[in-house]
Amino acid sequence: MPNIDWKNLSFGYTKTKYNVRTYFRDGKWGALEASSEETINLHMAATALHYGQEAFEGLKVFRGKDGAIRVFRWEENAKRLQRSAEAIMMEPVPSELFKKAMVKVVKMNEEYIPPYGTGSSLYLRPLLIGSGAQVGVKPANEYLFMIFVTPVGPYFKEGFKPVDMELVRDFDRAAPQGTGNVKVGGNYAASLKATMRAHDEGYAASIFLDSKTKTYIDEAGPANFFGIKEGKYITPESSSILPSITNMSLRVLAKDMGLTVEQRHVRADELDTFDEVGACGTAAVISPIKRIHDRDTDKNYLYCKDGNAGPISTKLYESLQGIQMGEIDDTHNWNMIIE
Ligand code: PLP
Ligand code: COI
Repeated sequence: MPNIDWKNLSFGYTKTKYNVRTYFRDGKWGALEASSEETINLHMAATALHYGQEAFEGLKVFRGKDGAIRVFRWEENAKRLQRSAEAIMMEPVPSELFKKAMVKVVKMNEEYIPPYGTGSSLYLRPLLIGSGAQVGVKPANEYLFMIFVTPVGPYFKEGFKPVDMELVRDFDRAAPQGTGNVKVGGNYAASLKATMRAHDEGYAASIFLDSKTKTYIDEAGPANFFGIKEGKYITPESSSILPSITNMSLRVLAKDMGLTVEQRHVRADELDTFDEVGACGTAAVISPIKRIHDRDTDKNYLYCKDGNAGPISTKLYESLQGIQMGEIDDTHNWNMIIE
């Protein structure tokens, strides 16, 4: 066992033993190779470096109560990586290749899967980049697909404790017909200034509004937004937000709990009417929000008035984590066990 303080891991990089890599060259994917190198040898004219041909994924592997190793809804990540590839003209990675790489990298790093009960998990970071050289603005004809893994704790240091977020209008994360709905690096570059300013001012993340009208809630930093009121789970519909697999799963669990699910435009001024609000994503799972500060109007929207996450967010969080850890029946068949 590596010497890791599993219970106190943050969401960061810890070196593991191996990563796996394969190249698309001359019209086909080559052999999948394991590497213990943390670096990539890349042509200086690679399109990833100049023209942003880069997409990634993020998914988690859990050690269950029964000792089994579970990966959550990997097919959805594989499909999303294919959509990201298509959006920026990269070679898509077939789901079977994605699966083979994932199983190989998890098995080769088994000792880095955090023990059950520590609150940590093994985060998988699949990466697809244009590695071929181009100087004109065109797609590469060579691609590198790789997956590295790293054991992680909660994304927001607060874990499931409510956080503050800030509503911003002076930065756009993504354009309505741009790449906000796929997981490409450029979206994150565009969010850095707002995010770092939010951190400096004591907020966990910035909440972006739709870029065109600045009326509707788009993304809650690196996560989707949801609100709860009147027996409803409400989450934004938008062409510029990433279709979150966590959100997709929470909508199903919310229905299972008897809530009505609405996926529609959510006006910023509707924030006043929610009983509970939160951000959701693989890294954060659910991050309950206790205060949203509107940077322009200075208005504060307050939730979690007793300091704790609301009852519905808590139940959703426990259900999702329970399924991921093998404590609750996986009735929707979301887990794949890696043997
Ligand atoms: N929104 C953004 C911008 C993200 O980066 C992520 C993380 O992947 C999410 C939402 C949540 O998506 P998922 O639940 O699939 O991890
Ligand atoms: C997520 O998994 O929810 C993320 O947003 C990943 C993030 C580190 C980009």
